[in-house]
Amino acid sequence: MDDLRGRNTLDDRLIGTLRRVADRGNSTAALPNHVYTDSRTMAAETDAVLRQAWMAVAFDADVPRPGTAFPLAVADTPLLAVRDRSGAVRVFHNVCRHRGMKLVLAPGRTGRVIRCPYHSWCYRLDGALDRTPHVGGVGIDTHADIDPERLGLMEVRSAVWFGTIFVDLSGQAPEFDTAMSGLMGRWSAFDGATFVSGGDDSTFDMVLNANWKLAVENYLESYHLPSIHPALNSYSRIEDHERLVGDDGLAGQISVVYRPTLDADGKGFAKVDGLGDEWQTRGEYVALYPNLLLGLHSDHWFSILLLPDGPERTQERIRLGYFSEDAATGIDHAALREANTRLWQVVFAEDIGPIERMQAGRHSPAFDGGILTPVLETTTRDFHAWLAARLLNA
Ligand code: FES
Ligand SMILES: [Fe+2]
Repeated sequence: MDDLRGRNTLDDRLIGTLRRVADRGNSTAALPNHVYTDSRTMAAETDAVLRQAWMAVAFDADVPRPGTAFPLAVADTPLLAVRDRSGAVRVFHNVCRHRGMKLVLAPGRTGRVIRCPYHSWCYRLDGALDRTPHVGGVGIDTHADIDPERLGLMEVRSAVWFGTIFVDLSGQAPEFDTAMSGLMGRWSAFDGATFVSGGDDSTFDMVLNANWKLAVENYLESYHLPSIHPALNSYSRIEDHERLVGDDGLAGQISVVYRPTLDADGKGFAKVDGLGDEWQTRGEYVALYPNLLLGLHSDHWFSILLLPDGPERTQERIRLGYFSEDAATGIDHAALREANTRLWQVVFAEDIGPIERMQAGRHSPAFDGGILTPVLETTTRDFHAWLAARLLNA
């Protein structure tokens, strides 16, 4: 790789390929192997894609109560999600302003302040610097050269939607509601519904030995339904799916034969009031670029975080949610929740092997991107074009 400006540059050959992929008139061109395998390309991608858009990083349920904190690392950046005393979620850089110690290592309660273990500087939950012991000499906690007003925790723009915490590391992305307006408009029938994250019985993690983009691509097409998900395909067949493509920054697929999970008495979760007929049998599965996979139905939703860990490994965190506190956490719905979680767990686990084999195939010098079929993979095409355009802006 011709590294003229530092580690995060792209070589001329890749730029040529990206131009072809970004050209939406070229319907079959796909991203080449090393966009999935090469750590220097990943560094460029981290700068140009992950750090430049609203990226999903955690769940609101990770900080369940005021005074709880959840450390995370995305795009090579250690962050800390905190629920402050007012109940709002805030995200800070997880680093002390004094000598740069990483502040919090494990999720849990912080108490009234976040205390750095090194020299005990303390930060309030809104990030303000609260205490600087001995900063002016032994027993003197102030000094004219140390302005606490300027030394609070560094906050990152964040937003919560769909039980999911998003951050904009660049600080330059459009306002969250503007960036999401396409999908918010599409799903306006759910305006006013409360999106309540489920508890421990509604969450699971998976590790994928593959590049995060292959998980997005797999989610975007129903072409693989008959081969990989035979049970699902027995009632929600390939021909029962439509493609959702054309909005900037997202694509997806729609099932028109969604069947809610029911208990032995035929009872399910309560549905959102006032939904039109079309939502009674509808599931919409949307990849919100870059790294969030959402599923929405009349009676529940789910959110899948794809957290890249190098070019060939991805942590997937999945959380289901419902439209009332009772459905999401009430004991009377526990069996139904468990059945619903298990159903999705089986489907998502079926995808792991094929995705990891696609990753393995990207080490073949005889393959370099392959072909996107012109009808059933227009959604994948959209993702590739979106990503290539951003990489070219790097
Ligand atoms: S590094 Fe945090 S108090 Fe010194
Ligand atoms: Fe699948």
